[in-house]
Amino acid sequence: MAVEKALAEVDSAVPVPKIAEVLKALGIVRLMPPQVEAIKKGLLSGNRNMVVVAPTGSGKSLVGYIAILKSLLEGLKGVYLVPLKSIAGEKLEELEIVCREASCKACITTGDYDQPSEWLSECDIIVATYERFDSLLRLKPGWVSRIGTVVIDEIHNVGDPERGHIVELIAARALSRGFRLIGLGATVGNPEELADWLEAELVYSTWRPVKLIEGYYSSRKKAIVFDDKREEAVSGALEVHLLRRALEENYQVLIFRHSRQHAEGLARQLALTSTEHCDDLAEELVDLEIPRVEVDSLRYVVSKCIAYHHAGLSLAARKFVERSFRERRLRAVTATPTLAAGVNLPARRVAVSIRRYEEGSMKNLSVAEYKQMAGRAGRPGLDPYGEVIISDARNSEEALRYIRSSPEPVTSVLRSERALRIHVLSLIASEEATDLNTLENLLKLTLAYRQLGEHLDLGVERALRLLESMGMVLAGSKLKPTKLGRAVTSLYVDPLTAWTVLEHLRERASRGLYDIYYLTLIALTPDFPKVRLGNLRSKELYSILEVLGEEDQVPMPRWADEYDILRALKVGLILRDWIEEVKEDTIVERYGVGLGDLAVIVDSAQWLLYASGVICGIEGLADHASRLTTLSRRVEVGVREDALEVVQVKWIGRIRARKLITSGIKTLRDLANSSPERIAEMCGMGIRQAEEAVKHAGELLSKIS
Ligand SMILES: Nc1ncnc2c1ncn2[C@@H]1O[C@H](COP(=O)(O)OP(=O)(O)OP(=O)(O)O)[C@@H](O)[C@H]1O
Ligand SMILES: [Mg+2]
Repeated sequence: MAVEKALAEVDSAVPVPKIAEVLKALGIVRLMPPQVEAIKKGLLSGNRNMVVVAPTGSGKSLVGYIAILKSLLEGLKGVYLVPLKSIAGEKLEELEIVCREASCKACITTGDYDQPSEWLSECDIIVATYERFDSLLRLKPGWVSRIGTVVIDEIHNVGDPERGHIVELIAARALSRGFRLIGLGATVGNPEELADWLEAELVYSTWRPVKLIEGYYSSRKKAIVFDDKREEAVSGALEVHLLRRALEENYQVLIFRHSRQHAEGLARQLALTSTEHCDDLAEELVDLEIPRVEVDSLRYVVSKCIAYHHAGLSLAARKFVERSFRERRLRAVTATPTLAAGVNLPARRVAVSIRRYEEGSMKNLSVAEYKQMAGRAGRPGLDPYGEVIISDARNSEEALRYIRSSPEPVTSVLRSERALRIHVLSLIASEEATDLNTLENLLKLTLAYRQLGEHLDLGVERALRLLESMGMVLAGSKLKPTKLGRAVTSLYVDPLTAWTVLEHLRERASRGLYDIYYLTLIALTPDFPKVRLGNLRSKELYSILEVLGEEDQVPMPRWADEYDILRALKVGLILRDWIEEVKEDTIVERYGVGLGDLAVIVDSAQWLLYASGVICGIEGLADHASRLTTLSRRVEVGVREDALEVVQVKWIGRIRARKLITSGIKTLRDLANSSPERIAEMCGMGIRQAEEAVKHAGELLSKIS
């Protein structure tokens, strides 16, 4: 009822009839308070930028959609930016529904970073990740000039140590080009400062669609102590108690743990005590395209209506867990904090561990991270309220600090050497900064400049000198990119990545180099993500290092220590197995990595090999370029070189390609001339698929000739 009263009718709240009509057609009858305030503060009556800081589930996205609809009415495009590809897919679905009512076209771009994607000019709304949009701003496709509004969702990511600088530069470029910026976020400690920076109107709201009650577990009292003074006695382990309660009162619970192992271990423990049965769900798991190792390990817990969720799982397994939880078929899910950042999976009760395992040690979560997880408690329209319980506070003071404090202020991370060299180069390469003056003026639009002032200049100077010494920038009275500098920017790699690759390959002939050298080299570049790799100090890895080292087949940059090299070598070995067609299950078992990690390794390696190939080509290292390009294609699909041709065909993956080749079907021509019946039998697939494959092989063949 309280919620109902807080809402305002669409007709009276939305002053633009065309937009009001669209909203009503979408089934929206009333607006939520942050939405009403946004309109009152000029969302539809002006063109000022806007920052909306309001709790989870308070309807921030719609504020972004309304601003985009306004731009569409003015004949301009809207861009909606999100932190992850998976969220981009969800937003596209929502925006397609909006477009059905508003007669517009929504598109998503997650394509390769060096593609300007001119085709997007026919789209009215474009959904992209921060990185993809940053790459587009560098490539400057024609349609960029027709952008009206840019919505930056989860704007608190400006403070993210790894990627915040990208969001910051997008915002600075938007300010300089006069796009209308709408920033949306839930956990920002300094909303005024952000709004000030973005020359924006601030909408700040604490309104929630579902009441949130926060509490903590007190091991001294053996009870959960809630902020509303209620206490709930706990006998035995807290998590078992939470599960029992959820079963008795028929709701769902989400439990955050600090590491993957803890999440999995807890799920198993809970499964042992669960009295519920989900055998149907466990059967469905077997029918999905989830690799065997994961099915084996998830099957038992799922049969007891429990599951775990973390970044080490394959995408298919994660989607399965999310879907089953949303459909209320799972009682409890244990997860690492990554879930809170990327997936909308609310539950009546959420238990949070305020510590996290990171790079070998335990770290306390920030208040913002805690609030992000706490926000998952309570499903609008379904739960009367949500409850969050801190499970591992040392004492009540520690717990109350998390419960009572505001999130930390968002601070710029652009000052890092890496971020500065990347962006100084990209501003010069895209010819937005043509001399020191224009460069400084652009950088004055960053949050870093507000927070650091003149101190930023020193870092910028250092970055310029470095880029000059790497041969990427000519710095005289004018700033000019070299051909290499331009390529590095449009390939979306760190200048130091390009330089590391060139430094190692310039003096070496490609003939004597094994594949593993290239694969290890790209894993050593600063662009290679820090995936979890399990044990590195194994005897086996050391002895491989020794053997390959003696043959001079391991790249050893001066700055790298033994740990860096072991890491990269392990990645190299994983990738080599992958392109030698070793099964995923085997790789996972052999190296102790998760399937989710393998996917990240493959994705990043494919791109970095490709980019390195282009860069070598530009620098006249044609032999290396051709090796790298072939490796990139092999990594993309995980095959030996002889399978690259048939694997292009629809329905033919790495496993089927090998079956075809061993049966003598080695080329597109062989495949195009085969009978679908024979192909179906060889590959173990249906006749329809086989017909399509043969047809597709023919089409590809005619394209080539
Ligand atoms: N005016 C409205 N009437 C009814 N439902 C609404 C309205 N506005 C938004 N919603 C619904 O509320 C839900 C939450 O909205 P939204 O995803 O925009 O939240 P958010 O503020 O972005 O939260 P988060 O911080 O988790 O991203 C969505 O399912 C959305 O469709
Ligand atoms: Mg949102």
